[in-house]
Amino acid sequence: MTLLRVNQVHKIYPSGTHALKGVSFEVEKGEFLVIIGLSGSGKSTLLRCINRLHEPTSGNIQFNGRDITHVKGKELRQLKRQIGMVFQQFNLIKRRSVLVNVLTGALGRMGTFQSLTENFPQKLVDEAMEALKTVGIEEKAHIRADALSGGQQQRVAIARSLMQHPDLLLADEPVASLDPATSNSVMQYFEKINKKFGTTVICNLHFLSLVRKYATRVIALKAGEIIYEGLPEDIDDDWFKTIYGEEAEEVEIR
Ligand SMILES: Nc1ncnc2c1ncn2[C@@H]1O[C@H](COP(=O)(O)OP(=O)(O)OP(=O)(O)O)[C@@H](O)[C@H]1O
Ligand SMILES: [Mg+2]
Repeated sequence: MTLLRVNQVHKIYPSGTHALKGVSFEVEKGEFLVIIGLSGSGKSTLLRCINRLHEPTSGNIQFNGRDITHVKGKELRQLKRQIGMVFQQFNLIKRRSVLVNVLTGALGRMGTFQSLTENFPQKLVDEAMEALKTVGIEEKAHIRADALSGGQQQRVAIARSLMQHPDLLLADEPVASLDPATSNSVMQYFEKINKKFGTTVICNLHFLSLVRKYATRVIALKAGEIIYEGLPEDIDDDWFKTIYGEEAEEVEIR
């Protein structure tokens, strides 16, 4: 079943930068799609158009069969609840506990009063502990978020996104701030969530070795256009040079 249809999307920033130039693709439920491409190729812009942090300049995006290109207000809030987002810099509330950070992922499901008072029902607390278990750090629940390592913080961010029960999980270079070994372990949690809950994942990544390990399908952007769409194992040396330039050499990360 098709979860996402991106159709002829253009994004022109007010500065005049034409960041996406007629991008079209579809994503089936349960896929682990990885977007690659040089810095500036439009990867983040594409993710931001999908979760509507940005509005596409033209073209349209359908999510779960609904046109979400220009939704506003209540519909936009509903959409953002269905799409989890994980960032390179984790974006946790530093001074709050891990558990509270994870619980904030459920704010969209709570009443205004409950969320203002942070009066989290026990059921949600149990669920947050379960989410922490999924990413293997339930023992850190009562520690301040900024006392964790980068890899642990990113796992908290993943647990927080799980509290949204997202149909789609977007991750913009989720391991770019981490060392190679930690990168791999964080990617394993995305894989676990993708397999265990069937959550569709779209992730921007820089290292091809990680792409080959985790992607079920790959899209490569170059200057705002899709230049490759296919299986990770089909990205040979020629494709690598087409995507990253003649001078580029692959760096291994295991
Ligand atoms: N908020 C913005 N306002 C204006 N221009 C922007 C904005 N965000 C990105 N751009 C421009 O749009 C183009 C695509 O940027 P984008 O951030 O999508 O690339 P990227 O592939 O994510 O790069 P990186 O790998 O460095 O994160 C670039 O030329 C960038 O300078
Ligand atoms: Mg980016």
